[in-house]
Amino acid sequence: MKTNKMLGVGRIVMASIATVFTAFTAFGQGASAREGNASIPEEVFKVLKPACLSCHSNEGKDKPKAAVNFSTWDQYTSMEKTMLAASIKEEVAEKKMPPKRYLETHPEAAISEDQLNLIVKWCDSLKAKP
Ligand code: HEC
Repeated sequence: MKTNKMLGVGRIVMASIATVFTAFTAFGQGASAREGNASIPEEVFKVLKPACLSCHSNEGKDKPKAAVNFSTWDQYTSMEKTMLAASIKEEVAEKKMPPKRYLETHPEAAISEDQLNLIVKWCDSLKAKP
């Protein structure tokens, strides 16, 4: 009787550990699932994803993908990253990107002033260092 109870508790403990473990692994995978652009800070990527990636990623059309592809960002040389950062900063700061016409049908792609500042800061951090 006592042993059975012990086994029951043991099972519950084991199940809890398994649940926590699974949650952790899932979290770990979520964080490392970004292949090709892991050098983009998580908080910046969270802004870019809904605002830019439908066009500027491997899922996008040829033209925007050729301009800048965030799916393969890490493959750009540091010189290319610097140049693209300047271009991204300009497009975002002047509210040319995301395109206004796109925002009419995709309000979820809009970026707030805070998010805009975050992108600008990130772009500045990619400027060539003297
Ligand atoms: C609806 C699709 C779409 C979305 C969303 C979008 N873009 Fe673009 N983007 C384009 C197209 C199309 C071009 C023009 C490509 C060309 O003409 O070569 C472009 C061009 C650019 C360029 C190059 C500009 C130049 O003149 O060299 C940059 C940088 C850019 N986009 C950044 C962004 C960023 C950053 C976001 C998100 C904040 C974004 N775009 C969202 C479609 C999009």
